[in-house]
Amino acid sequence: MRLAIGNDHTAVEMKNEIKEYLEGKGYEVINVGTDSTVRFNYPISGYKVARMVADGEVDGGILICGTGVGISLSANKVHGIRACVCSDPYTAKLSKLHNNTNIIAFGARVIGIETAKMICDEWLNAEYEGGRHQIRIDMIKEIEETQNLEAAHD
Ligand code: RB5
Repeated sequence: MRLAIGNDHTAVEMKNEIKEYLEGKGYEVINVGTDSTVRFNYPISGYKVARMVADGEVDGGILICGTGVGISLSANKVHGIRACVCSDPYTAKLSKLHNNTNIIAFGARVIGIETAKMICDEWLNAEYEGGRHQIRIDMIKEIEETQNLEAAHD
């Protein structure tokens, strides 16, 4: 399984630790984030990872900034991306089971490395359940593509 990972200047150390951790488990992890602690604008990494996921170059993405908020917001602007920022493994798992997230994000200033590893494990090991959840995913897609939601006007 191929993953892309991206980060800003607040998350270089956590990015490196997560990359090493996942490579140790057999994942191929492509680093497109900054390796410098010099101030770096997170939308660049958010976009790069999102682009690779949306284009099918990788099977999923991991994004880390100070809070995970800015970098996930950036990724979510790319069509087809469902990026979830979370601070706990339960949300990470459910975001895959119910929302079919294709990017997981977290904050290097918010959680510790062990929680970050658990978030990655739960997210990567979970499988989208489909079924009743697909109608909602399709509605999200409708909003994205049309800036409208017919069902909201019923
Ligand atoms: C950088 O100071 C910080 O704003 C960024 O890492 C992130 O937390 C934004 O959402």
